[in-house]
This record gives sequence, structure tokens and C-alpha cells, in this order.
Amino acid sequence: MTAPLRILAINGSERDGNTADVLRHAAEVAAGRGVVFETVDLRSVRMDRCGPCGDCNTRTTPCAVPDDVAGVVARMIEADGIVFAAPVHGFGTASLMQTFIERAGVGHLRFDRPLTNKVAGVISVARRYSAGEVWAQLTVNALLNRMIVVGSGFPATVHALHRGDALKDEEGLTNVSRLVERMTDMMELLAEHRRLTGNDGPIHTREANERVGLALNAAEFAEPAPEPALAPQGRP
Ligand SMILES: Cc1cc2nc3c(=O)[nH]c(=O)nc-3n(C[C@H](O)[C@H](O)[C@H](O)COP(=O)(O)O)c2cc1C
Repeated sequence: MTAPLRILAINGSERDGNTADVLRHAAEVAAGRGVVFETVDLRSVRMDRCGPCGDCNTRTTPCAVPDDVAGVVARMIEADGIVFAAPVHGFGTASLMQTFIERAGVGHLRFDRPLTNKVAGVISVARRYSAGEVWAQLTVNALLNRMIVVGSGFPATVHALHRGDALKDEEGLTNVSRLVERMTDMMELLAEHRRLTGNDGPIHTREANERVGLALNAAEFAEPAPEPALAPQGRP
């Protein structure tokens, strides 16, 4: 018997509120397809904000901040699919998810892109304003990590202000259901590929970290600079 497919959802809300309700809905849809759906509530994770070191852009080993971000990343690596779900705060991504994107993305994931070919889904939850922008920001981060973002129709943006409102947004929940269904379709396809070929799918770009050659990192990868030419006599 093969192991069930697994989705890990990252919940970036500070409360057991609308985002959590939406993820419980997603979990029901996943269960209907035989998929194990687990949620990491970032509010319960020991996670520091980025500190003052600022050395992410030059260090070649994972972030050294001693908290539980590495543990969450390890759980993501174990999963077949990842859902990023966050409320909108101040027209942007709520700070817990923003911190996680910074700490996990820049601090841990960027070296060898271990989430390559995992199926990703994004859900934003907002009263209304900037729901699409936050959805797009999280989607770009999934794409950056070489994940497979599967089209499922309208973006899974759920409109909700007060506790309980999310479950009244029928259209939003329909979009979430479609997202989970389509993620499951793709996870099944990839599992079948693994069964037939024994490999994880195309990973042609894994060896070439996209940061190589960037001006930002030029010092790391540049040829040694030539000796400066001597100025002609009599000239400054
Ligand atoms: C500090 C704060 C800022 C918010 N900013 C926005 C916003 O910019 N746009 C919006 O549509 N909703 C905004 N909201 C509303 C939340 O996105 C909405 O209540 C959402 O359902 C909260 O999800 P949660 O219960 O999972 O935390 C804000 C809520 C809070 C607490």
C-alpha cells in the first residue's frame, strides 16, 4: 500500500479565526480525496524576526537564529503540497507570514531550493482590500522556490471581516475547494510519475542557484580583479 499524499498548510494568522476556518474547509476537501492535511499555526511556532545581522545575502549556510523555523521547513520538505494562507493586514501580508517568508525563504530555502516540484497553493483572507496583492506576493514566493502552482480558476481570496465571516463567503470557499482539488490532481500525477520513473520529476535547474552571477553576489563569484594600470607620468 502506498503512503497517502500530504498537504502542509502554513497559517499566518495570529488567531484561531477566519484563516483557520478556511483551512478547516480545505482540510475537509482534502480528506474527501484521501489526502492528509496538516496545519502549522505560525502563532504557535517559536520564530524570531530577522535580526540585525543582515548577512543572508552573503552567507552560504542556513540562518543561524536558534528558533523553530528550520523545523517548519523540515516539515514542508516532507509534504507533497504546501498551502500558504495569510490574512491581509495594513494592505499587506500579516506580519507572522511575512516574517516566515523572510526567515524561511532567505534564511533556509534559497541554497538548494528543497521545495522544488512540490505543489503549492495560496489563500489570502481579507475584509476586501489588497486580498489580490497578498495572494500574488505569496504566489511569487512559491514560484521563486520552484514549486508547481496549479491553475484552479479564480484566486483563492476569501472575504471576511469578523470571526465566522469566512464561512459565509461561498464564492471564496468554492475557490479554495477548487484549489485543493487541483493541487491533489497534480500531486497524484507527480506520485504516478515517481512510481513509474523512481525520480522526483524535472530538476534541471537545481544545481544552478539563481543568485549565482547576480551583482549582489558578484564578490563571491567574480574572477580576481586585474592589477590597476599605472597612471601615465605627469598625470594625476
Ligand atoms: C491589524 C489588522 C489590519 C487589517 N488590515 C486589513 C487590510 O488592509 N485589508 C483588508 O481587507 N482587511 C484587513 N484586516 C481585516 C482582516 O484581514 C480580516 O479580519 C481577516 O478575516 C482576519 O483573518 P483572521 O481571523 O484569520 O486573523 C485587518 C485586520 C487587522 C487585525
